[in-house]
Amino acid sequence: MTKKIAVLAGDGIGPEIVAEAIKVLSFLNTDMKLELVFDNALIGGAAYDAFGTPLPQQTLNLCKNADAVLLGAVGGPKWEPLPHAVRPERGLLGIRSELNLFANLRPAVLYPQLADASTLKPEVVSGLDIMIVRELTGGIYFGTPRGIRVLENGERQGFNTKIYNESEIRRIAHVAFKIARKRHKKLCSVDKANVLEVTELWRQVVTEVGKEYPDVQLSHMYVDNAAMQLVRAPRQFDVIVTTNMFGDILSDTAAMLTGSIGMLPSASLDANAKGMYEPIHGSAPDIAGQGVANPLATILSVAMMLRYTFNETTAAERIERAVNSALDAKVRTADIYSEGMTKVGTSAMGDAVVNALKGV
Ligand code: IPM
Ligand code: MG
Repeated sequence: MTKKIAVLAGDGIGPEIVAEAIKVLSFLNTDMKLELVFDNALIGGAAYDAFGTPLPQQTLNLCKNADAVLLGAVGGPKWEPLPHAVRPERGLLGIRSELNLFANLRPAVLYPQLADASTLKPEVVSGLDIMIVRELTGGIYFGTPRGIRVLENGERQGFNTKIYNESEIRRIAHVAFKIARKRHKKLCSVDKANVLEVTELWRQVVTEVGKEYPDVQLSHMYVDNAAMQLVRAPRQFDVIVTTNMFGDILSDTAAMLTGSIGMLPSASLDANAKGMYEPIHGSAPDIAGQGVANPLATILSVAMMLRYTFNETTAAERIERAVNSALDAKVRTADIYSEGMTKVGTSAMGDAVVNALKGV
């Protein structure tokens, strides 16, 4: 049966890195007869320029009819002056919400070849393997009321609402416990329960769900402490589950532990493992169009797609092994370059992975 993938390259370096991920997928498609078919559509600033909206109806329809979505990145300075409602980021948030992609998995794994690329000492980060499970369709990102209003005294006031229903917490907690079960059986739930009632409820519900997973060791941590622990002793973590905004922030921190944000993939899943797959880095407008961006996060996102949506574990593992071999062969994009390595551009890095795939 054919498997439909909606491809949304987006803005900035998006088209460059997505092209490399498609190169890798196309090779495997032929090599392993995966029966993948691709369809492209616009999102973000590119969609705004063409249609006046960051998430055109035809893009949304394509994503709804696809089995999986591959996304590059959205946004850039060109669109920053636009009103919030049509900013490129709204395209991304719109898909997450319209497709009910409530479970965002962000693995932070340190490749031993890159231990020197991290700004932290190798002994602190070596062997690092954390999975951040971020709630993606609720919390302050979507809560209402929200806006900027003018008070009676003429002063402007900005406001957002951090809100979670019990059921939203429950379903993300189940995802996190199940993932922990397949890993080292340790789950840390991150909240700010000492100040925010909404995360007091978060802590209560996660604790209740935990009773169904007695084999998983559950702990709770305040987000400020979690941020500190992530840079102090990151290997204490196995799986972290947290809210939309805390997950956004902590996953960037975790990314840097691995040397470069250019290495980190992500999966955003609905209740039936349909998913959108994207690198966690952004559109990097400063290097867009130069052919120097690191495509590995996007290539690794495609491996997650094969694993989580299509159950093609062998294909997923082949990609991950090929990325490893490419790193062993000392090819590096600028963000992970160190002395003695061969500096390559985006497309040569994609070629290196495809070449490596022939041997794994
Ligand atoms: C991410 C990004 C997005 C987010 C932006 C681009 C809306 O930072 O995926 O982490 O905040 O979720
Ligand atoms: Mg982010």
